Amino acid sequence: MTGPPKPGAALGMRDVRVSLPSASGELRVLRGVTFGVGRGEVVAVAGESGSGKSTSILAALRLLPPGAQVSGSIECAGEDVLAMPKRELRRLRASRARIVFQDPWRALHPMKRVGAQLVESARTADPELSASAARELARETLGRVGIPDPAARMRSHPHEISGGQAQRIVIAMALVARPDVLFCDEPTTALDVTTQAQILELLRDLNRELGLSIVIATHDLEVIADIADRLVVMYAGEIVEQGPTAEVLARPRHPYTYALLRSAPGLAGEGRLHAIAGRPPSPSEEPLGCAFAERCPSAADACATVHPEAREVAPGRLVACIRAEGYGSVAAGKRAVLTKERP
Ligand SMILES: Nc1ncnc2c1ncn2[C@@H]1O[C@H](COP(=O)(O)OP(=O)(O)OP(=O)(O)O)[C@@H](O)[C@H]1O
Ligand code: SF4
Ligand SMILES: [Mg+2]
Repeated sequence: MTGPPKPGAALGMRDVRVSLPSASGELRVLRGVTFGVGRGEVVAVAGESGSGKSTSILAALRLLPPGAQVSGSIECAGEDVLAMPKRELRRLRASRARIVFQDPWRALHPMKRVGAQLVESARTADPELSASAARELARETLGRVGIPDPAARMRSHPHEISGGQAQRIVIAMALVARPDVLFCDEPTTALDVTTQAQILELLRDLNRELGLSIVIATHDLEVIADIADRLVVMYAGEIVEQGPTAEVLARPRHPYTYALLRSAPGLAGEGRLHAIAGRPPSPSEEPLGCAFAERCPSAADACATVHPEAREVAPGRLVACIRAEGYGSVAAGKRAVLTKERP
């Protein structure tokens, strides 16, 4: 699905604004986030630390900290998240919309056996499921996520398993609830490189085989190059660019996306890393113009005063930059140079 969310999608966020209270005043951590995830689609949300990736995911499930002010509209698995009573919201999070965090140990009870936790997850999502059917589903799903000897693993306690296996088990706990959409917040960041690749492959297979919609937040662009159908790039609580992953990576239309690509080791080319100089504005400030203006090598005078709205610059490509059209061809040229320089 491209552009703004369509009704009936796995996720539709429209002009979502989130403010959090803090000792130094109100922090505007999301400033008008609009994107959609179609059924069976994988969408990656990328950006530097603090850009609002986790907040977007947490907002989608109304899991924000107490005191958070949220406006806009959020539709998740067909439900109006901001209008739902808390009880129904808990059911939604237990069944059709599941989340996997970076740290698998956060989701696992240290004292309970793996099998019991899977059975509990399945039966919370579907209270009509019998205990034996839930156990069968749990064993089958452990096998599906690549856990060897699932029957034996059902009897293990979390402290007996590795980080990679724990993340597979957490994914299995989500799958036994038969979700429509799976949110993954940096699901591989805590794992070694080989395990990272295996977990991403698993997520991609689950998407293809089950038609599972996946939203994956990551600061690592290389993680999403092979898995995401579409890429959403965030900067300082806003989406600056979104579009089909291959196109955004090959031909970034926003100077920030381009800078992010140049700072990604596997995408920029060996030895060609360029860290992005400067820092994003603090969420306690409300920039008048473009939030990237102070760091942007292409900034014009107007950028300091005109806030760039997202515009469709090509089918399915939305870019929030007053120079997006012209920048596309410049960035494509620069990418070609980078590509040539690869060993
Ligand atoms: N509970 C909180 N209280 C105050 N500020 C918060 C809270 N959670 C997030 N923030 C702030 O909101 C902004 C967005 O944070 P968020 O965690 O969504 O970023 P992120 O893109 O997920 O970053 P990371 O890559 O580090 O996970 C940051 O400025 C962060 O400091
Ligand atoms: S609007 Fe201006 S400052 Fe912002 S990204 Fe575009 S060129 Fe750079
Ligand atoms: Mg985060």
